[in-house]
Amino acid sequence: MSPYRITRTLPEDVTGAALRADVAAGLTGEPKTLPPKWFYDARGSDLFEEITALPEYYPTRAEREILLARAGEVAAASGARTLVELGSGSSAKTRHLLDALGGLDTYVPVDVSESALTGAAGQLLAERPGLTVHALVADFTAPLALPASPGPRLVAFLGGTVGNLLPPERAAFLASVRALLAPGDSLLLGTDLVKEEATLVAAYDDAAGVTAEFNRNVLRVINRELGADFDPGAFAHVARWDREREWIEMRLRARHAQTVKVTALDLVVDFRAGEELRTEVSAKFRRAGVRDELAAAGLELAEWWTDAAGRFALSLSRA
Ligand code: SAH
Ligand code: TRP
Repeated sequence: MSPYRITRTLPEDVTGAALRADVAAGLTGEPKTLPPKWFYDARGSDLFEEITALPEYYPTRAEREILLARAGEVAAASGARTLVELGSGSSAKTRHLLDALGGLDTYVPVDVSESALTGAAGQLLAERPGLTVHALVADFTAPLALPASPGPRLVAFLGGTVGNLLPPERAAFLASVRALLAPGDSLLLGTDLVKEEATLVAAYDDAAGVTAEFNRNVLRVINRELGADFDPGAFAHVARWDREREWIEMRLRARHAQTVKVTALDLVVDFRAGEELRTEVSAKFRRAGVRDELAAAGLELAEWWTDAAGRFALSLSRA
């Protein structure tokens, strides 16, 4: 069994410029915001895996149903010899694709969470000794340098994570994915679909409080990495459906007025009682919107598959 390769394109030390700049800008803005990629330290990645098993969190099960039904079609249509997966996390659902991609030579999981990558890569290699695994610790919103590997390439972006980008970020991201594709390569994109509000809100505000803990974890990351003194318990988890923008918005609401120090930034931040900090959006999609956003990035929708209940979609597109 050959060991997997791992390439780090992020600073070893996440107290690096990016986290500092994001937190400084986000906590001094009005309203206050924090970008979602900082949720995923080792604890954040573990909490996300717990979310995927919650009864309220349907997207993982719906997407798995589609993958199980359509992996053969994806394999035939893409003919992929390299699978690049952005935001791969535990790679749990990816197994269904790997099973179907008979001619696959190389798997390139890309994630900001090194703990998720090493866990997933180690497990995959134990199961599939013939596969070359080249893990990339990288930010998929920054330009990506992919390792050399045989084509055609299939780029997969599952979990509805594309919905965690704001519309202008999404447009830039899709254009950068398009730029990675050579003729004959394809993109497999998972998008959660617009549905009844109660179902959506429950998926992001579960009864057991796991999503609330996941949301508050970003405060623990800032405490540890930037020497801040957030009291996570002083913030309530809020998940709201924005009917106009068709996205779920996650926030942390200050339970009472408080002052937080961020030592590494030499910053003092005041929160009013009830003030809300926006931590994440999760956009929900419709077929026409996905088709148009892909087209704007130079990608043509070729296939659109949903689960039987019509909750989630996988689409296949080409440059
Ligand atoms: N694909 C998995 C995990 C989805 S959760 C699934 O469908 O279950 C989102 C994943 O994207 C996490 O593993 C997180 O660490 C990663 N991620 C979030 N923002 C990222 C970024 N900017 N660059 C790279 N990875 C990112
Ligand atoms: N990509 C996931 C989604 O939008 C991420 C996610 C699930 C998430 N639950 C969350 C992000 C709760 C923040 C808070 O469904």
